[in-house]
Amino acid sequence: MLSIKQLALLALATGLASVDAQSTGKTTRYWDCCKGSCGWSGKASVNQPINSCDKSDNPLANMAAKNGCESGGTAYMCTNQSPWAVNDSLAYGFAAVKLAGGTESSWCCACYELTFTSGPVNGKKMIVQATNTGGDLGQNHFDLAMPGGGVGLYNACTNQWGAPPNGWGAQYGGISSKSQCDAFPEKLKAGCNWRFDWFGGADNPDVTFKQVTCPKAITDKSGCIRNGENPT
Ligand SMILES: *[C@@H]1O[C@H](CO)[C@@H](O)[C@H](O)[C@H]1NC(C)=O
Repeated sequence: MLSIKQLALLALATGLASVDAQSTGKTTRYWDCCKGSCGWSGKASVNQPINSCDKSDNPLANMAAKNGCESGGTAYMCTNQSPWAVNDSLAYGFAAVKLAGGTESSWCCACYELTFTSGPVNGKKMIVQATNTGGDLGQNHFDLAMPGGGVGLYNACTNQWGAPPNGWGAQYGGISSKSQCDAFPEKLKAGCNWRFDWFGGADNPDVTFKQVTCPKAITDKSGCIRNGENPT
């Protein structure tokens, strides 16, 4: 007869513990003002693609609008895809995602509960919805969307908001102090401050993660719900 502990070990060893399985991942941060890749029809089985916004931050009805990162593009990341604190130990937000063994059809608009395992946020949790991916992301990688986090590969922030040529702060990593948020567009200030308040200025903390049903507070902003999910 196997003990509970032996069974648990067996389950782990054979991958049977998938219901509550946590995987290990890494994070980075970005805010490039571009239309997210989950903003296109046909990426995944969903009610609608994630919302994109016009240059003045109004949601676009036309999901086929060209990405503002491309010449002549008119679709940008909506400012309400910024992170926010639910309470001291939980935050909600959005991320560009790449997961081992998956594709956009498996992760676009899915939500993941991240538990930070390093840095000043060690032990805190954040639930993010996948709105985007990135060619430069590794496997099990969450590039957390936060204003002032650095534009990365693409930059629509200069076009949309008059940010400096390589975006606010460093192209990778962005600004380095909270006071720099004061010069941000009004609608991006709260998300910019979040990084230095709730997030404690953490620098690419590690995570464990698992998929969860999206909170309605998140899908109410993005507009996107995966078929079969019932956010509450
Ligand atoms: C934070 O909010 C979540 C979700 O409502 C709740 O489960 C958790 O207990 C709260 N934590 C604290 C410290 O208030």
